[in-house]
Amino acid sequence: MGIAVVGSSNIDFAARVTKLPQPGQTVLAKEYKSGPGGKGCNQALAVNRLGVSPIFISKIGDDVLGRQLLATLSDEGLDTSHLIIADGAQTGTALISIDTAGENMITVVGGANMTMTRGDLHEKQSHLRDCDFLLLQLECPVVAVDCAIKYAREGHAKVILDPAPVPDHMVMRDLLALTNIVTPNSSECLAMTGIDPVDMATATIAANKLHEMGPETVIIKMGSKGAFYSSDGQIGLVPSFVVSAIDTVGAGDCFNAGLAVALHGGQDLADAVRFACATGALSTTRNGAGDAAPTLEQVLALLEDPASAS
Ligand code: RIB
Repeated sequence: MGIAVVGSSNIDFAARVTKLPQPGQTVLAKEYKSGPGGKGCNQALAVNRLGVSPIFISKIGDDVLGRQLLATLSDEGLDTSHLIIADGAQTGTALISIDTAGENMITVVGGANMTMTRGDLHEKQSHLRDCDFLLLQLECPVVAVDCAIKYAREGHAKVILDPAPVPDHMVMRDLLALTNIVTPNSSECLAMTGIDPVDMATATIAANKLHEMGPETVIIKMGSKGAFYSSDGQIGLVPSFVVSAIDTVGAGDCFNAGLAVALHGGQDLADAVRFACATGALSTTRNGAGDAAPTLEQVLALLEDPASAS
């Protein structure tokens, strides 16, 4: 029962720069901040802050950063009993630059995340079979993601896939065939379908292409244009919340966490997408990735009074 998250864990090192570097260029930053990151870890932290304790399956290294991450997640009250220590591997890291407009560049060093195997998932299969929703992203080996999906689908779980980073076409087709809900952002949608979702009409065409590949529900995160959803012939565009954004890293992960928590709580799709939009929007008002996830009370307050954050 509940929500499972299978995916990456990183320590993020984020530097604020005036302008993002061009190839071959060096830029200076005053300081960096480090904190928990990785799309899987961000989703797990956000689910937990929203009041649902997830089964979080991820791999970290047997190193200083791994111990730092473990301590941070435990302090946060996240159940770390399903974290796997990868002998001889480095904990994943992400090197992030964020400019004054909030644009970012991210280099991920996968490390321990890339050592996740079918065997690791085999050990956790009972948890995957028992969950209601499985949250996935693509910063771990595809064989492991595919295996997690198969175990979850042997139970009754709905699989929510964040197709980030977008893999090659054949891999994506295989994964989408087993996915219930896919949640690309605009650029991922463009890479997967060849269609840039700039409005309802283009988003609908792109969503139909994605439906043909498998998922019954398609949600396209369109940034300031809102979030488009399409399911069972029902479509809609949920407007984005107007907030004072300072850091958008991890906002998509918080969106997916909000979506899973709302659906798990029995909300219908339109309400769940609105809840997800609020969760993602609030995360952009703070620095950091998983660390920036809002609490349930904060999300409910924004839903109740959307003007409160602007
Ligand atoms: O989605 C944001 C995340 O992507 C960051 O936390 C970074 O670790 C990369 O995985």
